[in-house]
Amino acid sequence: QLRAGRSRVLGLLVLDMGNPFFVEVARGAEEAAHAADVGVMLCNSGQDPAAEAMYLSLFAEHRVRGVLITPTGTSSEQLDALRRNGIPHVYVDRVAADDEDSCSVSVDDVVGGQLAVRHLVERGHERIAHVTGPMSLAQCRDRLAGARDAIDEAGLPEEALAVVETTTLDVAAGRDAGSRLLGLPERPAAVFCANDLLALGVLQAMFAAGVRVPEDVAIVGYDDIEFAAAAAVPLTSVRQPARQLGRKAAELLLAETSGEPGHTHERVVFQPELVVRRSTLADR
Ligand code: RIB
Repeated sequence: QLRAGRSRVLGLLVLDMGNPFFVEVARGAEEAAHAADVGVMLCNSGQDPAAEAMYLSLFAEHRVRGVLITPTGTSSEQLDALRRNGIPHVYVDRVAADDEDSCSVSVDDVVGGQLAVRHLVERGHERIAHVTGPMSLAQCRDRLAGARDAIDEAGLPEEALAVVETTTLDVAAGRDAGSRLLGLPERPAAVFCANDLLALGVLQAMFAAGVRVPEDVAIVGYDDIEFAAAAAVPLTSVRQPARQLGRKAAELLLAETSGEPGHTHERVVFQPELVVRRSTLADR
């Protein structure tokens, strides 16, 4: 029979349901929820703050047990209101930097950016393009910061990193960024992309222009989604343990809402790992 009061549904609000990274996050969250006889209401903000606000209201109406969210960056007031109404949240894929009252599960994206660019520098590249997303996303800000650290560490000048910004981190935006790189007076011979979808789009643009990967241009992605290894040129990528992120975030939220006293908020930070494949292995 239904237990009075406590809902058996978690709200999960992801940034881009079209990105296999978030599908893996959702799978991990669902596994943890299912183990506790709880379901997941999966919604997609599509990086749109208005959609995010609408879904947070929906979660409130349905009195979900708690919310797992990868925020677009503008949701804190609404999340605080939900918490005051007894619906806590856990940040997934982003540190709860400015929110003392919440758990978060993320990956150290600064280290991730360092790993990617350090690898390209070690492959002998001295001019590197970084295709990133909007700076409103903490993930993009941190990967860019890590990339800049590695450039500085190698004693290269700041302008050795050419930054190309996109609005959405999907394959189409990657194709567009790839075309822009091809149009530069001096085409970079190495590209670090803020996620694998952008990298797959850049790969497509290079192929369409008859540019060889990795011989003419080396490419590094981020996330290590399943398609990275299966790409036409297997993609070197910075791996995020997506499924573990989702599972751990759901476990923290279930613990916080279990009714057991003494929950203390945690900021779990996983370490990224560089997975080297053919897209950066050209003998130079
Ligand atoms: O949503 C953009 C990116 O942020 C995803 O690909 C994943 O890397 C997340 O951290």
